[in-house]
Amino acid sequence: MLKAEKERLRQLERAQLLADERKRFTRELHDGMGGHLVALKSILAGNPDKNSLCLELVNQAILDMRLLIDSVGDESDDVGLTMGMLRSRMEYQLKASALFVSWNMQTLPVGWSLQKGCSIHLVRILQEAITNIIRHADADWVEIRTTGFRDNGNRMVRIEVADNGQGMSPDVRQGRGIENMRQRCETLLGTFKLDYNPGGGTLLSLVLPCQKE
Ligand SMILES: Nc1ncnc2c1ncn2[C@@H]1O[C@H](COP(=O)(O)OP(=O)(O)OP(=O)(O)O)[C@@H](O)[C@H]1O
Ligand SMILES: [Mg+2]
Repeated sequence: MLKAEKERLRQLERAQLLADERKRFTRELHDGMGGHLVALKSILAGNPDKNSLCLELVNQAILDMRLLIDSVGDESDDVGLTMGMLRSRMEYQLKASALFVSWNMQTLPVGWSLQKGCSIHLVRILQEAITNIIRHADADWVEIRTTGFRDNGNRMVRIEVADNGQGMSPDVRQGRGIENMRQRCETLLGTFKLDYNPGGGTLLSLVLPCQKE
């Protein structure tokens, strides 16, 4: 057998092993941890006054686990699907925060995908951006815009998160959240910018390369 052919077979085997392991991991997470959390939630829900904070935390843990299962489990790196999944999973948390979110994906072509296995990083960046807005911005409105464009013929997406809050103070102390967002964006081979929003508030802007056609 040719050397190149042997190498190709080895790569296929490795990809299959990885896919099997992902399936196993998400199934275990869902059936094991998911079951415990849902049971705990129903116990807490029986006494909401005393346990409302615990209930809220359990809800967040369930939401987070579902995000992980979705982004690892279905192996889809399609940008539109990832954004749609994030939107449905964040619905509860956003409702509880009374933050109005406008999702705009009008200029995203269908079927554009991030680098393989990378959708979890995009989900986590946007999750932290929204969490930061809820915690720090004092905003009541956020727009999440996703745009597709070409750079020298290559497919790129720009994702912007604009809030109408108080903006970031110049002497801001950076925590883990922004640092993690930056690192994840590097993994996605993208560019990261967090700055004043021209209309007031804060603007997060990511530019990410998509898979080649
Ligand atoms: N949308 C925003 N509007 C206003 N201030 C913000 C916004 N996002 C972040 N900040 C400021 O930037 C700081 C750093 O954010 P970062 O996410 O790194 O840390 P954190 O949220 O304070 O803590 P954690 O490590 O838990 O994420 C915040 O403490 C806050 O002052
Ligand atoms: Mg944070």
